[in-house]
Amino acid sequence: MTQDELKTLVGQAALQYVMPGEIVGVGTGSTVNKFIDALASMKGRIKGAVSSSNASTERLQALGIQVFDANDVGELAVYIDGADEIDGQGFMIKGGGAALTREKIVAAQSRRFVCIADESKRVDVLGSFPLPVEVVPMAAQRLVREFAAMGGAARVRLKEGRALVTDNGQHILDVTGLRITDPLSFESEVNQWPGVLTVGVFAHQKAAVCLLGTADGVKTLAF
Ligand code: 5RP
Repeated sequence: MTQDELKTLVGQAALQYVMPGEIVGVGTGSTVNKFIDALASMKGRIKGAVSSSNASTERLQALGIQVFDANDVGELAVYIDGADEIDGQGFMIKGGGAALTREKIVAAQSRRFVCIADESKRVDVLGSFPLPVEVVPMAAQRLVREFAAMGGAARVRLKEGRALVTDNGQHILDVTGLRITDPLSFESEVNQWPGVLTVGVFAHQKAAVCLLGTADGVKTLAF
């Protein structure tokens, strides 16, 4: 099976976690796009969605799914999102699509994070994927030096030759060379550096379940 087919498989499998009458938290990325397409099949039975990015909002609305402001709804039962890496405890690296801040906000508003991913995302230790960090632009170069002091090489993410601007008007640093053996402490430490909006380690908002697309079908990992 191709990676795209595995993404379709887990996107469809995630429907089992969406209960009729609910508002569902929706992440961002190519795997989530498969979930959104599948969700259209039950749009008459759900109230709608809270979205983690402008891109997902547009896709949901194009399919006729109502998108609510996070401030207008209470706790959500479930948040469905992809990951760039997920380890054996449900800790993740996210933000490859630059949507990490809103992803973490919607995850925090949800009782259960269901991660959908193909098996290439499953790792033993987080850090091979360049860690995305959303930062206030004026702090970027100081934060590059902070990461260098811990052995990481950080670069401002570019789009068409200029610094990429997120949905929140901020920049992204991508940090290579890290081996994140204690994701909870790492997330807490980096989050309190001035100028960091969100670090792409999702340890405090880890997955409760991962639907992993494999050559043998969808495996359910519970954490
Ligand atoms: C976006 C994310 C995505 O969930 C992550 O990048 C995985 O994306 P994809 O499903 O396209 O591989 O964190 O900010």
